[in-house]
Amino acid sequence: MKTLQVDLGARSYPIHIGRRLLGSEPLLSPHIVGPQVMIVSNETIAPLYLDKVLAGLGKYQCHAHVLPDGEQYKTLDVLKTIFDELLGRRFDRTATLVALGGGVIGDMTGFAAACFQRGVPFLQIPTTLLAQVDSSVGGKTGVNHPLGKNMIGAFYQPRCVVIDTDTLSTLDDRQLRAGLAEVIKYGIIRDPALFTWLEHNIGSLLARDASALAHAIEQSCRNKAEVVVLDEREGGLRAILNLGHTFGHAIETAMDYQGWLHGEAVAAGMYMAADLSVRLGWLAASDQKRIAALLEKAGLPLVPPPLPRDRIIELMAVDKKVQQGRLRLVLLKGIGEAVVTADYGADHLRATLATYFEA
Ligand code: NAD
Ligand code: GLY
Repeated sequence: MKTLQVDLGARSYPIHIGRRLLGSEPLLSPHIVGPQVMIVSNETIAPLYLDKVLAGLGKYQCHAHVLPDGEQYKTLDVLKTIFDELLGRRFDRTATLVALGGGVIGDMTGFAAACFQRGVPFLQIPTTLLAQVDSSVGGKTGVNHPLGKNMIGAFYQPRCVVIDTDTLSTLDDRQLRAGLAEVIKYGIIRDPALFTWLEHNIGSLLARDASALAHAIEQSCRNKAEVVVLDEREGGLRAILNLGHTFGHAIETAMDYQGWLHGEAVAAGMYMAADLSVRLGWLAASDQKRIAALLEKAGLPLVPPPLPRDRIIELMAVDKKVQQGRLRLVLLKGIGEAVVTADYGADHLRATLATYFEA
């Protein structure tokens, strides 16, 4: 097992990465404050892994709340069912919430923990590659609103993250590839050595080689932890973690969160950010080709499905990186060098959007 530390003073926490860690009492119980534990999961993951977690937490009064599966359920209405259950079962402010699932479950459970009785501890047990390399670390929690993705939420750090890489064995190939999009992201924004390693090892990752996956997860969590420690509440630097996300979130929202996975939308978004960066003369065309080749080798899409450009522009305008009416984007000056800027010129952005979206 490898353990990384997210150093945030009183809110510091460990990320444990390894095999057979699910429900490990020695890893989980130091972070559980009182006797009451609510495990939040979904109808796909619970039959696979809930029993193992319950077995590890046998000494606590555990209750499992099982949500429907899907990004379309990441809503205030479904979030309310967690509060209904907590209050109906007389959970008090010593309760601990445990997120067992992918990014949807992690984001919703974290937000519920941030709000319930003004904040109770929560633990992350991420079960998708995307959640293991990204969403379980860093404390962004929340739900979607019909007018925008992740628009209602809070920064609220977990007390620990336990990554059992064995859970990836039941994840389908498409979800694995979607998680790889976020791994590739770290290489593009700040870790050129990771990018080169991925160019050589993407085949092993797709073949689910255990040591390659462990390396990719560890390097991703290290990159994410380093950025979060420098800028926990996204005053500046942390926004680089959103490479491709402004385009990607607009694609996802325009598709009603159905049809494409988050990681797929991010992949196409990263390619569009590279396209815009090349138009600006900031990124070499050869680097854009390396990015395209790696995304394609990972089985990820480069271009979005046909979507109306006006709708995409409208959705991009409600991005959380809009400041005083100006949309800031994460763009590239090279592989390993990202910038967050509103100085890209509206014409260049229009040209990129015209290339990938319908009139
Ligand atoms: P997800 O949570 O919807 O999980 C994907 C699918 O895999 C679901 O059907 C789920 O039930 C299933 N699944 C999960 N683990 C499994 C396993 N081990 N075996 C078989 N099936 C399994 O999607 P995701 O890709 O994990 O996360 C996407 C969400 O994460 C989005 O809502 C996105 O906004 C959010 N996100 C948050 C952050 C953050 O910093 N908080 C970062 C990136 C993404
Ligand atoms: N996934 C983007 C962030 O955590 O900031």
